[in-house]
Amino acid sequence: MCGIVGYIGHREAYPIIIKGLQRLEYRGYDSAGVMVYNEDGMLVCKTKGKVADLASKCESELNLVGNLGMGHTRWATHGVPNDVNSHPHVSNSGNLSIIHNGIIENYEPLKIELIKRGYTFTSDTDTEVLINLIEDVQKTDNLKLGKAVQVALNQVVGAYAIVVFDVRKPNELVVARLGSPLAIGIGENEYFIASDATPFIEYTSNAIYLEDEEMAIVRLHKPLKIRKIKDDTYVDPYIQELQLNLEQIEKSGYDHFMLKEIYEQPSVIKDTYRGRLLADQGIIRMAGIEDNLEKFLQAPRIIIIACGTSWHAGLVAEYIFEEFVRIPVEVEYASEFRYRNPVINKGDIVIAISQSGETADTLAAIKLAKQKGAFVFGVCNVVGSSISRETDAGAYTHAGPEIGVASTKAFTTQITVLTMIALRLAQAKGTLSKSELQLYLQELSNIPTKVEECLETNEQAKIIAAAMKDAPNCLYLGRGYNFPVALEGALKLKEISYIHAEGYPAAEMKHGPIALIDEHMPVVVIAPKQGHYDKVVSNIQEIKARKGQIIAVVTKGDTQVRELADYVLEVPDTADALSPLLTTIPLQLLSYHIAVMRECNVDQPRNLAKSVTVE
Ligand code: F6R
Repeated sequence: MCGIVGYIGHREAYPIIIKGLQRLEYRGYDSAGVMVYNEDGMLVCKTKGKVADLASKCESELNLVGNLGMGHTRWATHGVPNDVNSHPHVSNSGNLSIIHNGIIENYEPLKIELIKRGYTFTSDTDTEVLINLIEDVQKTDNLKLGKAVQVALNQVVGAYAIVVFDVRKPNELVVARLGSPLAIGIGENEYFIASDATPFIEYTSNAIYLEDEEMAIVRLHKPLKIRKIKDDTYVDPYIQELQLNLEQIEKSGYDHFMLKEIYEQPSVIKDTYRGRLLADQGIIRMAGIEDNLEKFLQAPRIIIIACGTSWHAGLVAEYIFEEFVRIPVEVEYASEFRYRNPVINKGDIVIAISQSGETADTLAAIKLAKQKGAFVFGVCNVVGSSISRETDAGAYTHAGPEIGVASTKAFTTQITVLTMIALRLAQAKGTLSKSELQLYLQELSNIPTKVEECLETNEQAKIIAAAMKDAPNCLYLGRGYNFPVALEGALKLKEISYIHAEGYPAAEMKHGPIALIDEHMPVVVIAPKQGHYDKVVSNIQEIKARKGQIIAVVTKGDTQVRELADYVLEVPDTADALSPLLTTIPLQLLSYHIAVMRECNVDQPRNLAKSVTVE
């Protein structure tokens, strides 16, 4: 977590850094800070709160003029969010400053040692330890900044993306990464450094993504030099052309990124299958699958690893793979998988799902699976992310940047990719008949239009939100393919509106949760016509008998549930297996409107961050 931005060049650094931090705020937003260097030295401004708070503090207190600087937006790990713990941190001598995304796990023994050597600390952070360690190494061995950073990093355990500055080297920034992302934008006589490319896309479309265990000396008027942190081998920089554009990372007239991203779903689902799904010709082709088709066909089992919403997409995939491909599937939380001793048999395939491609637990689970001999396939959204690089092969979702912290379009595009994989395997294995396959292909290509129809529930979602917004608790129920949708609906509600919500398989209700139902309990039931409709109707009757408030997601034209429910949200008819792509949409809208009505910060819910790069 945490977002970092650095700049060195001919422009004013401060505005670039503040705008960049605003774009990276999805990564953390409990405190922020900036440092700008000019002939007066390092000017540092830090505050608890958001980047907007930082900007008003800086602008009222300081004149941050200068062509070199760095900034940080924080998601606290070590030390509470306050001004002192905010980055940048300055070394004891006042010569060095640092911004850091990640965790230095062995900071305590290092700190004790530095205290013995006379260093003092003002913050509770691991980062202040790191900058003083760099200073100590630099002083003791009389090293240049780059070398001192390298020696110090070889003493730390943990994860980092860092930018370090030395006032005595005012044309240089030293950057390094291990386990946290770091991109370097290359302009004309200027360099941009950031956790992702969004802070600099209007200035350059050329970027280098540092690999783990690499560092770079970024010097004005000099070509970039990248080397390994462990030894001194130099690495040829690989310059990528960015595919991002400004519009993709702006709200484009929507009140929140989350709403914009909900509304983008018809187009991004289409982007995700474009060129891969040719329904009329009965073709599905995805390079990552074609290249490894035999492995998939021979696999005795698929294990899916992911966290949060991506884990929910994995659950939907479990149902789809087992039904379409007749292959056993297990879905695991990456955080659990990595700390037990999972059994991986010869030929097992692991599929890792991650929007950001940076989730620490998923990354660690992938490494473990690879150690145990599994072939690991990634389903990621962020191109060039750590997970996309760590996996043996993969398929990208094409959701575009997801900036709202609550995942929406990532979920539906993940399901789209996973469905295409299942259909391709079913085609190759013959586990679906030609006509069944054709039907699904056709129906998948109809999904974007049907998602557009689902978005028409927006006004109804607002009405229901007004009725639900003061409830302290809420239950979400679904069966079969729509059980994971119930989990996802509950997660969306709790994370952005802070209403306690639980998702259950509808039939499990009577094994406990039914005790919670009374006239004050809203129960959201996902009850599309296909699937286990009659069973779900019985569950709805049971809720009604206990005076629960029923909000039902139903297929257009449904009359039976409409008679029982207090409110309905209608979605178009589709195949049962594809229904999560539709039923999830009104639930996203419902959570969104409830959160807005409760005056919650929809795009930046408390305590959360978009990219969870710590365990
Ligand atoms: C919920 C949400 C999180 C993420 C989870 C995994 O709305 O966004 O639960 O799904 O942190 O993140 P990725 O998919 O980036 O690995």
